[in-house]
Amino acid sequence: MIKNATLKVIEKRRSLRMYDPTPLTQEEKGTILHAAMRAPTAGAMMLYSIIEVQQQTLKDRLAETCDHQPFIATSPFVLLFLADYQRWADLYAAAGCEQRAAELGIKTRPPSEGDLVLAMMDALIAAQTAVIAAESLGIGSCYIGDITENWEIHREMFDLPQYTFPVVLLCFGRPTKRRSKLVPRFERKFIVFTDRYRRFSAEELDDVHLPFGIHSFEPRDYSNGAQNVVQMNYIRKFTADFSWEMTRSVRAMLKNWSE
Ligand SMILES: Cc1cc2nc3c(=O)[nH]c(=O)nc-3n(C[C@H](O)[C@H](O)[C@H](O)COP(=O)(O)O)c2cc1C
Repeated sequence: MIKNATLKVIEKRRSLRMYDPTPLTQEEKGTILHAAMRAPTAGAMMLYSIIEVQQQTLKDRLAETCDHQPFIATSPFVLLFLADYQRWADLYAAAGCEQRAAELGIKTRPPSEGDLVLAMMDALIAAQTAVIAAESLGIGSCYIGDITENWEIHREMFDLPQYTFPVVLLCFGRPTKRRSKLVPRFERKFIVFTDRYRRFSAEELDDVHLPFGIHSFEPRDYSNGAQNVVQMNYIRKFTADFSWEMTRSVRAMLKNWSE
């Protein structure tokens, strides 16, 4: 495999959940944000916004509302990435777009689900670019997907208008001395296909979770009643309270977006 400095950063990156308390410098923060904003963006529209969460009280609250993850409150640099069509909805309104479209006989519409998905793509690509930029500076990070829970609380906390949606929270910080091991990935044959989708038989799927099982649950703790590592995942994640809350919260947001 080819190796260079960029690929080395990608290869060595791992999620960081314990942070040295030293704050990031303004230059480091600015560099990470600049990189995020250089990410590809659909139609060059920048369909996302980034909120830097500075207030400790807000971080403390997020540590609770994002499925009780205390390390969020200890991160010196926290960024909330929003899918954002509000700015363009406001731009369209300010520029008299609907009126002009009506004059031209063009059918108009409000931002809808397709626009939301596109904006989510934009937000995520910007976020991952920030992750890699930070990593290249020796600054680690961790995504918090649980930011899609408790949408009503987060909407109030951050004053979010209708056509925005929290996609991910990113916690950054310098590593403490000990860094965790790299988490293995599934074999490529399970992930990358040629020309068409491929499903696997139960026997073939046996191999999928092998590296996952070895890494995550050694020695295996099946105290929650699971009999194997996949059942463990199903019970601990897929059917866990946070998953139900995520489903409820995203449905509520989608309803609000489509109204
Ligand atoms: C969309 C997304 C959401 C995530 N949410 C969380 C989270 O809420 N809490 C957490 O500790 N890690 C979270 N992670 C980090 C993953 O657990 C981590 O990427 C995965 O275990 C692989 O480990 P690695 O990043 O060290 O390679 C999330 C990652 C992604 C991409």
